[in-house]
Amino acid sequence: MGTLSARSIVAGYSAADEVLKGVDLEVHPGEIVCIIGPNGAGKSTLLKAIAGLLRPSQGHVELQGADITGLAARDISRRGLAYVPRAIYLLATMALTENLKTGDDSEREGTVMAIAVAVTRFPILAENRRHAARGLSGGERQMLAMAMALMVEPAVLLLDEPSAGLSPLAAEKLFESIVAIHESGVSIALVEQNANEALAISDRAYILVDGRNSRTGNAKELAEDPEIRRIFLGG
Ligand SMILES: Nc1ncnc2c1ncn2[C@@H]1O[C@H](COP(=O)(O)OP(=O)(O)OP(=O)(O)O)[C@@H](O)[C@H]1O
Ligand SMILES: [Mg+2]
Repeated sequence: MGTLSARSIVAGYSAADEVLKGVDLEVHPGEIVCIIGPNGAGKSTLLKAIAGLLRPSQGHVELQGADITGLAARDISRRGLAYVPRAIYLLATMALTENLKTGDDSEREGTVMAIAVAVTRFPILAENRRHAARGLSGGERQMLAMAMALMVEPAVLLLDEPSAGLSPLAAEKLFESIVAIHESGVSIALVEQNANEALAISDRAYILVDGRNSRTGNAKELAEDPEIRRIFLGG
């Protein structure tokens, strides 16, 4: 039984023109899986279809053995899947701890506990916890977004281009955070343009091209594949 299993997903933004033409994605328990591919391939659309932001017109999504196909995003989140979109929405004028509270709808005591866990996981947030979110760097914002997503204590975390717009150093720190989250027991699927870095921290990888699975396999093997290197990894 896979932690997350999306099979033959057909989905898009209008019925006449499906972006995903039958895509498969599996995240096995304890895995980090990355999804790479050209712009417009449907990577973000796949995450949205899994997270319940788009309803697949065909195919099935299972989370921890339960069919979640077509459920609302909120219900999917409650069942243990967290999704961090590429465009991070933060309440810029609110202090960090206030932003973290918006990431959780449980009782007050639970929220306080979850914030404590979040700042333990991301010490940078503890240092800045009274500061407004707009005073954060891109990398700190991304960590805040991930901390918010983790407050539901998900089994699976979906990340859409977490390193987008970050400096190489900030991206490196972010990938370290992703590895630490993974080591704490969360299975992860991430979409990345920084394909080399993403492959380096992943167990398996999926290459999507034009709404279809192109290649799938062991991340290290794909990273060394001459054809993959030439087309997707810059030589
Ligand atoms: N909200 C939307 N409404 C209509 N079409 C969309 C929408 N979002 C994406 N698309 C279209 O769906 C296709 C796939 O987009 P998607 O964002 O999934 O690609 P991607 O692989 O994530 O690309 P990128 O690497 O640029 O982020 C593209 O042709 C895009 O124009
Ligand atoms: Mg995208």
